[in-house]
Amino acid sequence: MSGAASEDDEYASIADLYDFVLPYREREDVAFFVAAAKDAGGPVLEIGCGTGRVLIPTARAGIEIVGLDASPHMLAVCRDRLRQESAVVQSKVRLVQSDMRAFDLGRAFSLITLPFRPFQHLITVEDQRSCLESIRRHLAEDGRLVLDLFNPSLDALVKRHDGEEFGEEPEFAMPDGRRVVRRHKIVDHDRFNQVNHVELVYYVTYPDGRAERLVHSFAMRYLFRFEAEHLLARCGFEVEHLYAGYDRSPFGSTYPGELVFVARKNRD
Ligand SMILES: C[S@@+](CC[C@H](N)C(=O)[O-])C[C@H]1O[C@@H](n2cnc3c(N)ncnc32)[C@H](O)[C@@H]1O
Repeated sequence: MSGAASEDDEYASIADLYDFVLPYREREDVAFFVAAAKDAGGPVLEIGCGTGRVLIPTARAGIEIVGLDASPHMLAVCRDRLRQESAVVQSKVRLVQSDMRAFDLGRAFSLITLPFRPFQHLITVEDQRSCLESIRRHLAEDGRLVLDLFNPSLDALVKRHDGEEFGEEPEFAMPDGRRVVRRHKIVDHDRFNQVNHVELVYYVTYPDGRAERLVHSFAMRYLFRFEAEHLLARCGFEVEHLYAGYDRSPFGSTYPGELVFVARKNRD
């Protein structure tokens, strides 16, 4: 499996918008991942690092970090952002274009993270296992994996109607004057394989009034708590903590919350 070619990079048309999307800007996970990186002391491998939303604050905290992502467009945005950083921060970062399902960086990491659900882009159990096996090979003996998933809301899964746009979000502005409104759509819900085929639709208005509709289409696999635990066990991990949120609140304290697993290699 090679890294995604540019023409099938699902993030191609929206990579430059990503950092301005309000729910992404306001995600309350950065401090959690930076603290985990500081506790580990580095080096950190961030899988699905995207535009560097978490990677750059981690490097600013003085931690060596490798960012791996399949999308050349997301990595290009990350490189642009890094150029604005000091030489010291830049020296902490290495970016690698690769597919998380099979990678070989030839070194071990004290912490491996997948912030904001990149793992859920993997649709089959075979791909999930292949990714976790690659991760295990790269994890130091006493290292930790932070696997960040959403906890599927049974209510949302049942109530949401395929094909309807939802998700009221305030309009956001780009530095070049474009104004953007984003909506969500579940195009299809494959109930047997636990996969939502999602469209994020970006309605863009240029300063001269021209309008453009950009669609980010992707498939998202949802995993339930015990399924993810069994998968981790099958791939040689034991779960140390399971959080419902980035404030480390325990799983079960809020619904649906997140599924944030902290795991280590099992000691067999
Ligand atoms: C929702 S974004 C999260 C980006 C970043 N971690 C953050 O928190 O903002 C998911 C990222 O996973 C990457 N990704 C998806 N499938 C991948 C794969 N098979 N291998 C590597 N990266 C992948 C995408 O290119 C994208 O940058």
